[in-house]
Amino acid sequence: MSLLESTTDLDPKELGLFFSLLEANTGIALDATKAYLVNSRLSGLARDSALVSVAALVGQLNRTPVGHLHWQAFDLMATHETLFFRDKLPFELIKSEIIPKLLNVNAGRRELNIWCAAASTGQEPYSLAILLQEEFPVLQNWQVRIHATDMSESCLAQARSGLYNPIEINRGLSQAQIKLHFDVLETGQFRIQSTLQQWIQFYRLNLLKESPKLPLFDLILLRNTLIYFNREKKMAVLKKIHDHLSHETGYLMLGSSESILFDNRFIASRSDRVTYYRKV
Ligand SMILES: C[S@@+](CC[C@H](N)C(=O)[O-])C[C@H]1O[C@@H](n2cnc3c(N)ncnc32)[C@H](O)[C@@H]1O
Repeated sequence: MSLLESTTDLDPKELGLFFSLLEANTGIALDATKAYLVNSRLSGLARDSALVSVAALVGQLNRTPVGHLHWQAFDLMATHETLFFRDKLPFELIKSEIIPKLLNVNAGRRELNIWCAAASTGQEPYSLAILLQEEFPVLQNWQVRIHATDMSESCLAQARSGLYNPIEINRGLSQAQIKLHFDVLETGQFRIQSTLQQWIQFYRLNLLKESPKLPLFDLILLRNTLIYFNREKKMAVLKKIHDHLSHETGYLMLGSSESILFDNRFIASRSDRVTYYRKV
């Protein structure tokens, strides 16, 4: 047994302090039943930081001001699971109803502002860009901006690179789409074509912390993220979303298992088995 493996027992009090720190900074709420996640996800960081154990790392995090090491740990504790055209149906609705309506309402100014508010490694914003390019050629003459944000620098680095491995590329894309929109590199990786990247701006944004200057959005995707937050943190994030969703044109879409019916600032509608929200 290695030194690291033999010393990973976590004191419940230390674990509680770490979870409070994680939640205060990111919104992600975990409890003692997730202790195993701390061990499995932070052991590499403990090793790389020359600390003898995960317990030593957690102790250091609990006793030092939040800095780079903390954000590395928070990033590792978050779930970044994503895939191209995740759940399919929301993208069908975006294609059949939402974009046609926005094309109509925004015809005067020919602008489309979209925000993927937890973009992870980029598959969601790239799916939108693929959909817009394939289905709405008229948008070539519009100003289309997809703001793709996440708190995770490592996810954003991959998203910006537009590089995906064979497993990632085969999750959600057809062979025709892979052929059309990606170049195969000698390394076996796939790189998204730059024409799709030009609409997207990737940058770091913590939904709980910063209040950046953002435009009003016609469509916001905040999918599979609020599910990790408690009610209070959900309301705080939804305030930010509400502030940046256009009143006249704005649509908000969440993950398929998420609901914000408790928030009376939004009204839910359902079409083709997909729920979306608008401002009251
Ligand atoms: C499960 S992924 C969802 C990705 C994509 N929206 C999807 O549905 O496929 C959740 C993402 O939320 C991000 N996240 C969690 N808390 C966040 C916060 N407070 N601010 C910004 N991003 C956050 C994580 O880094 C992670 O990449």
